[in-house]
Amino acid sequence: MDRPPVAAGLGVNSMTAGESTGPDYTPGPLDRDAPLYVAGHRGLVGSAIWRQLEASGFSDLIGRSSSELDLKDRDAVFTFFEATKPKTVVLAAAKVGGILANSTYPVDFLSDNLRIQVNVLDAALAQNVQRVLFLGSSCIYPKLAPQPIKEEYLLTGHLEPTNDAYAIAKIAGILQIQSVRKQYGLPWISAMPTNLYGPGDNFSPKGSHVLPALIRRYDEARRDGIETVTNWGSGSPRREFLHVDDMAAACIHLLEHYDGPDQVNVGTGEDATIKEIAGIVASAVGYEGETEWDTSKPDGTPQKLLDVNKLRDAGWKPQIDLEAGIASTVEWYREHVDSVRT
Ligand SMILES: NC(=O)c1ccc[n+]([C@@H]2O[C@H](COP(=O)([O-])OP(=O)(O)OC[C@H]3O[C@@H](n4cnc5c(N)ncnc54)[C@H](OP(=O)(O)O)[C@@H]3O)[C@@H](O)[C@H]2O)c1
Repeated sequence: MDRPPVAAGLGVNSMTAGESTGPDYTPGPLDRDAPLYVAGHRGLVGSAIWRQLEASGFSDLIGRSSSELDLKDRDAVFTFFEATKPKTVVLAAAKVGGILANSTYPVDFLSDNLRIQVNVLDAALAQNVQRVLFLGSSCIYPKLAPQPIKEEYLLTGHLEPTNDAYAIAKIAGILQIQSVRKQYGLPWISAMPTNLYGPGDNFSPKGSHVLPALIRRYDEARRDGIETVTNWGSGSPRREFLHVDDMAAACIHLLEHYDGPDQVNVGTGEDATIKEIAGIVASAVGYEGETEWDTSKPDGTPQKLLDVNKLRDAGWKPQIDLEAGIASTVEWYREHVDSVRT
């Protein structure tokens, strides 16, 4: 399709609107020899996608760390895209954190994430990148959405206030993908993963998500002979967890088998209470002490379970069960305890 170029200094709104009503595109195998850029290739998700692309024979993978290429720097992003001309882009770069980080630094989570994704998506559009996968998060859905959460519940209620800034940035990303499809007819897609865990996770006590935080806490308690571990909240909220290698497989599957404007939920379709998860972690690390629950601390959303029928209909389901996934993540954590993000 002919369309005016996007300049680094211009927003997409300054361009003449395209006439497309959406792409007419049949997904199929990606070209293993064409340049594919994984934004955020050193992160939990990006590194898993990178490993799996490598294992699937992709020979021209492109990755840049944030110190090599700050995706908040629009000119640098445009220059990078012009030089590398990726044919496919997976956008797994983002400022990511747990409840504490999100609620303490909301403006960073809003502003950095908006800038990262707008720059990458605008630069991809300028280079006419044919296939883009944008990754968001299940926090885009209303706090009190009916369970399991279907894709269509987006924007039907209030967000969880502790991470609303992050969620709004991610919702803007979905809208940008949909708008590019509408305006320029490019078959770009979005996926919304549930809580992820696995090798490469952030185990920092201040910035991490619940599962890596539990692994670290219980493993340190075992090591130090601590008799009681105290966790935040009542332990009753239900959460869904997906191993990041499954997530990576789902991403590649969607790129090769799915096309559509709606974001696709990526999860297992099964949840467990935080108490149950803590029990699995305690036994995986070999902790034999007691667990107490500090009910003066907030629980957050009572349940978060994604409806994964759209993903199932696209022909994908997870392979790694929770006990095995947690056990191998504990192993990875112990091997990398001196170099993990803390
Ligand atoms: N972790 C989860 O449970 C989870 C759940 C649902 C959705 N997701 C989504 O998956 C995506 C990736 O999350 P993740 O867990 O993999 O996060 P992560 O481990 O923190 O990795 C984030 C990546 O983004 C890169 N990045 C951050 N700021 C950057 C910047 N200014 N310029 C260039 N690169 C930058 C980092 O690069 P460097 O390492 O080089 O600094 C890092 O590789 C996010 O969109 C997130 O919403 C994650």
